Amino acid sequence: MRLQDQVAIITGGGQGLGRAFALAFAGEGARVVIAERNAERGAAVAAEIEAAGGQALALPTDVASEASTRAMADAALDRWGRIDILLNNAAIFSTIKMRPFDEIPVQEWDDLMAVNVRGVWLCCKAVAPAMRAQRRGKIINIASVVFDLGRANYLHYVASKGAVIGITRGVATELGDYGVNVNAISPSSTQTEIPRETVTREGAVAFAQNQTIKRVQAPADLVGTAIFLASSDSDFITGQTINVDGGLRFH
Ligand SMILES: NC(=O)c1ccc[n+]([C@@H]2O[C@H](COP(=O)([O-])OP(=O)(O)OC[C@H]3O[C@@H](n4cnc5c(N)ncnc54)[C@H](O)[C@@H]3O)[C@@H](O)[C@H]2O)c1
Repeated sequence: MRLQDQVAIITGGGQGLGRAFALAFAGEGARVVIAERNAERGAAVAAEIEAAGGQALALPTDVASEASTRAMADAALDRWGRIDILLNNAAIFSTIKMRPFDEIPVQEWDDLMAVNVRGVWLCCKAVAPAMRAQRRGKIINIASVVFDLGRANYLHYVASKGAVIGITRGVATELGDYGVNVNAISPSSTQTEIPRETVTREGAVAFAQNQTIKRVQAPADLVGTAIFLASSDSDFITGQTINVDGGLRFH
């Protein structure tokens, strides 16, 4: 119970990695806010947590909207009076259509950046007043190894994850004096329950051959690092990006 009674906001917690983080945090005793654009899926994960005896609040949220992220923080504070952890997991990801960089439509570029980059900033902005006042907080951003790899055919996504690492370092610098830690996790290709074009199930096996540990990464491989970064065990670690990638040899 390393997160006993901590209030954790998890964006995009309705499926995939976000759902895995939400269930794992609740399992460690956290009170979890599922800030998810898909209201139905967010409610389903909150119900799963409650059925297992945990506490959860599903909040339909669009991280790209400042009003929505402010409402998210306000609702968490109304319900539980504090915000200890923000896990910036929401992104345009599994719905991406792979195509060469010079064929990405401008609107698609802007829509992805609004969620993957502006959304991370807006969520940090929304929780900062509470965390500053508490003089304590943990912000965890989900980056990706694709930034290091410069992986082909989704340049907007690759660029957005570089920006997430930049936001991690910058916000860590600005909130360090307030006892707020800001770190990122950079996963390798992780197979969730959601099929996608970016790495198909067959492609994942081939991708894993580039790792030192040659098995396909699962959501369970990421939760331990997220819990560590959310807990007091990591109080002197900030501005860092931790690669949780089975020792991907491209680095
Ligand atoms: N799965 C992987 O292989 C992998 C690898 C590296 C990094 N990541 C990152 O991990 C995170 C989760 O990945 P995933 O595989 O679960 O992705 P996913 O596409 O399956 O899930 C994303 C979730 O975010 C939600 N979302 C999208 N836009 C939103 C918005 N505007 N406001 C609120 N919620 C919104 C979606 O509804 C969905 O529930 C993402 O940041 C992704 O970039 C994933």
